[in-house]
Amino acid sequence: MTEIRDLRSFIDALESDGLLARIKRQVSIRHELADVGAALAQSGAGAGLFENVDGSPWPIFCGGVTSRRQTAVALGCGPDEIIDVMEDVLEPANGISPVRVENAAWHANRVSGDDVVDADLPIPIHSRGDGGAFITGAVTVAKDPVSGRGNLGYNRMFKLGPTRFGFNVNEWRDVGTFWKSRNEPDSPFPVALAIGLDPAVMIAAGVKTPVDELFIAGAIRGTGTEVCRGTTVDIDIPASAEIVIEGMLHPANREPEGPLAEFHGYHGESWNSPTFEVKSISWRDNPIYQTIIPGWYEHVYIGNVLPREPLLRRFVRHLDPAADVHIPPYGNGFLAVIQVDRDNPGGPKNLAMAAMAAHINIRNVIVVDRDIDIYAPSELHWALTNRVHWDDDVFSIPYAQGHEMDPTADQRGVSTKVGIDATYKRERRDYGERVTYAPVDLARYMT
Ligand SMILES: Cc1cc2nc3c(=O)[nH]c(=O)nc-3n(C[C@H](O)[C@H](O)[C@H](O)COP(=O)(O)O)c2cc1C
Repeated sequence: MTEIRDLRSFIDALESDGLLARIKRQVSIRHELADVGAALAQSGAGAGLFENVDGSPWPIFCGGVTSRRQTAVALGCGPDEIIDVMEDVLEPANGISPVRVENAAWHANRVSGDDVVDADLPIPIHSRGDGGAFITGAVTVAKDPVSGRGNLGYNRMFKLGPTRFGFNVNEWRDVGTFWKSRNEPDSPFPVALAIGLDPAVMIAAGVKTPVDELFIAGAIRGTGTEVCRGTTVDIDIPASAEIVIEGMLHPANREPEGPLAEFHGYHGESWNSPTFEVKSISWRDNPIYQTIIPGWYEHVYIGNVLPREPLLRRFVRHLDPAADVHIPPYGNGFLAVIQVDRDNPGGPKNLAMAAMAAHINIRNVIVVDRDIDIYAPSELHWALTNRVHWDDDVFSIPYAQGHEMDPTADQRGVSTKVGIDATYKRERRDYGERVTYAPVDLARYMT
């Protein structure tokens, strides 16, 4: 098994597991790259490494964490162990602190000051509904000016000019809390953007937690993530990054940015966002630019599936210690599936209520039996079709609080939560066992 320590070793690991498509044919950085990356993710073909991008001097990688198999490679575990690993690394006591080093691979090349104008980063235009070119795969690295602790997160960056970007920050993000905690909240605030990373850092950055997410990345790898002080900002930045952008946020200097394909599968509205001024750009020799296709599988996996499944499981296991859970990426974080050994007839509905309370985003909950593969959408449809009496097995909670961007909710995020007991009610009508055939190795029969 390839030991993963940066983006390059992750690419090697994916390739040796048949989960990487090297795209040698030339693609345009406008839409075509995203079209192909989206198709790779949707078909389960894996990540894409675009080696010949019209409009980019560098190869572009996308779709590293778009499926259970790829996530398992990224975490160094089996697909069935993903929730266990995530639960383990999210436990604050298991965090491993980053290790400061003097030299980073990205020290090899650097432009700063007036020369930054000439560094034309290969920023794709993804969806046809997007407002322009967005940096979507950068991890924002910031530092709390009060406690000194670091923080990772994601903030889409809309290209406004050669050195200026719109920097999207939702209301409750740590980076916003940091700059607002200063005596002069509107003064420039330093941040760094790291592009092209070990997926441990990418996955950790999607977690909302009051501790430095680099501790989570360390826990995933079992060793401290190497970080190196920025060249213009006093921030510890992952040393293995392919590209590092350093600069200043201007909280009060706002400009419209957007729209961009959102995690819920529509294009979001434009925001009046703080601007970011680039001070320096550094990169490894022969760097690989990394992008996340917005509104698609990786966006949902990193932001809505991996950090939340352990929390969801903890809530439902409080009621049923044997229950299993899944947040399917095609449900955009609004759908949860719970799997149980059905016992008390009312139990599934209680479990659905627990799931709705586990995370504000969870709106629809389906509870199924053990004979349903919770990772296969067709299996869930079979259970919904053949095990649900829609008058008796469904309940709804109107005016419940959900996410403000839930497409079914009002502007404040208020919507109706729905629980569906899709378990087999033998007492209602006894059909016996579900039809099954023994699994076979088809290769033995087809040669
Ligand atoms: C691909 C991706 C893009 C995201 N883009 C944004 C964004 O543009 N603005 C934002 O406020 N949050 C965005 N988020 C959400 C958060 O940055 C992220 O989930 C993080 O956990 C925030 O945690 P923090 O408050 O601890 O920094 C994005 C998440 C992902 C996975």
